[in-house]
Amino acid sequence: MEIKYSVIVAVILVPWLKVEGAPQRICFPKHFMFGVGTAAYQIEGAWNVSGKGESIWDHYTHYHPERIFDHSSADVAADSYHQLREDVRLLVELGVQHYRFSISWPRILPMGLSNDVNEDGIRYYGALIDELLAHNIEPMVTMYHFDLPQSLQDLGGWTNPIIADYFLDYARVVFDHFGDRVKVWFTFNEPLSFCHDGYGGLDAPGANSSGFEAYLCGHNVLRAHGYTYRLYQQNYSHLQRGVVGIVLDFAWCEPATTYEGDQRAAEAARQFRFGWFAHPIFSSEGDYPPIMRERIDEISRRQHFPRSRLPTFTAEEVTLIRGSSDFLGLNHYTTYLIAQGNGKIYPQPSFKTDMGVVVTQNQEWPKANSSWLRVVPWGFRRALNYIRQKYNNPPVLVTENGISLERSNRDVRRVGYLASYLSAMYAAMSDGCDVRGYTYWSFIDTFEWTSGFSERFGLYDVDYSSASRKRTPRLSASYFSKLARTRCLPD
Ligand code: NOJ
Repeated sequence: MEIKYSVIVAVILVPWLKVEGAPQRICFPKHFMFGVGTAAYQIEGAWNVSGKGESIWDHYTHYHPERIFDHSSADVAADSYHQLREDVRLLVELGVQHYRFSISWPRILPMGLSNDVNEDGIRYYGALIDELLAHNIEPMVTMYHFDLPQSLQDLGGWTNPIIADYFLDYARVVFDHFGDRVKVWFTFNEPLSFCHDGYGGLDAPGANSSGFEAYLCGHNVLRAHGYTYRLYQQNYSHLQRGVVGIVLDFAWCEPATTYEGDQRAAEAARQFRFGWFAHPIFSSEGDYPPIMRERIDEISRRQHFPRSRLPTFTAEEVTLIRGSSDFLGLNHYTTYLIAQGNGKIYPQPSFKTDMGVVVTQNQEWPKANSSWLRVVPWGFRRALNYIRQKYNNPPVLVTENGISLERSNRDVRRVGYLASYLSAMYAAMSDGCDVRGYTYWSFIDTFEWTSGFSERFGLYDVDYSSASRKRTPRLSASYFSKLARTRCLPD
């Protein structure tokens, strides 16, 4: 076991030197890792089974079904809580090197508090991890994928600074119980999504945004991330020898035209949407992107707020957060076109007004089932190169990339999406981007948040009308399996 772990950690930490491969055939390096991903709330079901507490998504779907496209909830979903062995069997069938899943905070700490540990929750994740390791599949674990314990939301959730302490307590429980076997950790998944869409958008907790909450949430997430990273470094890494990172979503922002105003707007959009979290962690400044600072300070002044709506880090926090990631987990799906905004500052403060740009997509780009997702593989290459140039080429693990399509097991378009995005990623690696692994989203069909079950990203179909939630491989599963086994793009 020990040897295996050190090999894996070495793969993540030690940069490999060259991209191998025959001229015509795209082959990835020997240690490149292929895997698939999911998240607890989206697949587990068993929402109130064996001592699990209520999460904000349980609460939101139960009290506001009208905000979910098909009025559904993930009370049962794919029932993965009861299908652990079947799921791992399918992962073995796929031949993947890793599986990215998340731990549900309220499943192991029902009230969110570390003095009340739910042993059944610990047993469940322990069994999943053991089963994966028994089949040589590396568990990669997200500690927070949107499902905050409702009891902590009642205290203000991510807008209350105390949440960072509670998260740290939770992190300690997680490292204590699973850190002997889990070597790759992600603290947070997509803070842009859950801070922006959760506080002001349509996602849970569904709180109204006054233009303050999203930034407070982001601030506390960054603090919690920094504390957790340092906790691991100080108390765990010498024994457990794993790596800790964060997962950020970054849709490529392409200027709508060559006009200079649009070029500037595109850079502002990149910094607001990605730099918001990337800059404090990966830049040498250890702070928010200057463009966010300037714009939000200025707009806050004009809106007669005595302080900026964007909070400030203390000098101590800057040191804590700067460099607090061993790698960057990247979720990338699509590309947007960005044009200069009209320059107006609306009295109602909001993230969108602060960013001040117009976001569109080219209607000719092929559409997926999700309204926001169009197929633009070249944007993936540009996003990876931007990260390389802007943030000093950090090791990147692609933690999500995928497409939602109409329900069909002959998903030829998903195979096409995979081939084109993987080719773009390969091109970025040839440009010098330090990409260490790729994770397709998603392994099986999942509950797609406010879209309910209407959007399917899975390599495996889930039949929600069958009691067993029968899983059936799609064409893309066999494609992915060839890729994962050979590390070459199948013909
Ligand atoms: C990002 C999120 O992390 C995941 O939960 C979601 O299902 C996918 N994107 C697709 O929208």
